[in-house]
Amino acid sequence: MRDLVRETDLSARHLIYPLFVVPGVGVRREIASLPGQFQLSPDAAAQEAAAAAAEGVSAFLLFGQPMPGGKDPEGSGAWHDAGVVQQALRTIRAALPQALLITDVCLCAYTNHGHCGVVRGGAIDNDATLPLLARTAVSHALAGADVIAPSDMMDGRVAAIRTALDRADHQGTPILAYAAKFASGFYGPFREAEDSAPAFGDRRTYQLDPAAARQALREVDADLAEGADLVMVKPALGYLDVVAAVRARTLAPLVAYNVSGEYAMVRAAERAGWADGTALALEILTSIRRAGADAVITYHAREAARALGGRRAP
Ligand code: PBG
Repeated sequence: MRDLVRETDLSARHLIYPLFVVPGVGVRREIASLPGQFQLSPDAAAQEAAAAAAEGVSAFLLFGQPMPGGKDPEGSGAWHDAGVVQQALRTIRAALPQALLITDVCLCAYTNHGHCGVVRGGAIDNDATLPLLARTAVSHALAGADVIAPSDMMDGRVAAIRTALDRADHQGTPILAYAAKFASGFYGPFREAEDSAPAFGDRRTYQLDPAAARQALREVDADLAEGADLVMVKPALGYLDVVAAVRARTLAPLVAYNVSGEYAMVRAAERAGWADGTALALEILTSIRRAGADAVITYHAREAARALGGRRAP
């Protein structure tokens, strides 16, 4: 009876699994702040993707890092054709032709100051950053990315990326815009994984104030007007009202990002013996779907897919 009247469905097809790609061969290094998640060289990323695919997860979000010593003020490692994201796109594609490969486009892991855009006179130069993001997006598309996901939060970047992709003959490559991305403490564990914490200041001049719900909708409107094909709300758990509001406002596909701090809290509670981590994960993912997300980016993807193979979401 409960199955018959269940309102919200959660299954592996709704999940997008983030992969942290690093230089090297045969590298599989557990991330201290994200137990159960790994920094992976391109070959190891392909193995991890194949293992996830065997469990039913076939959408991936790739994050990269520059070669050792490769950080510079402009983040030029982001658009190198031999960069780890570009390499991983090719190795994962060879192993899994049907996988959906989404790439995060941002400069923060590649700049020596750790900001998502270029810095001039101690402030972010929004417009000078746009061509660099566009160049990065094109290099991902050329290496085989199926979807481009800009997370930098510069104004106008969706339009700049759309124009550049079209000129590079990638009219068919969709953009998943991190549209409503809040300046959040929940990204802490990710910045350790990516070595991307800002060297000075914070990201509040380009990411949203956690108190701003209406502005989040304006960001969604702007990104859709600029040509975004899918929009995202991030983080998810503290922002379920925003997920629901965006759902009510747009017919576009909606993705929510169950971010690193949300995952780390679950793992910490589990380690302390205070909760069943997988049960929490399924409940959290169900709540994000219930709020209106079509798909969820989550470090729990493999764990949830395995659990859903055997049991129903709570
Ligand atoms: C890059 C980026 C961040 C995340 C995704 N892309 C970090 C940030 O904006 O500081 C966070 C993801 C997570 O916490 O899981 N700009």
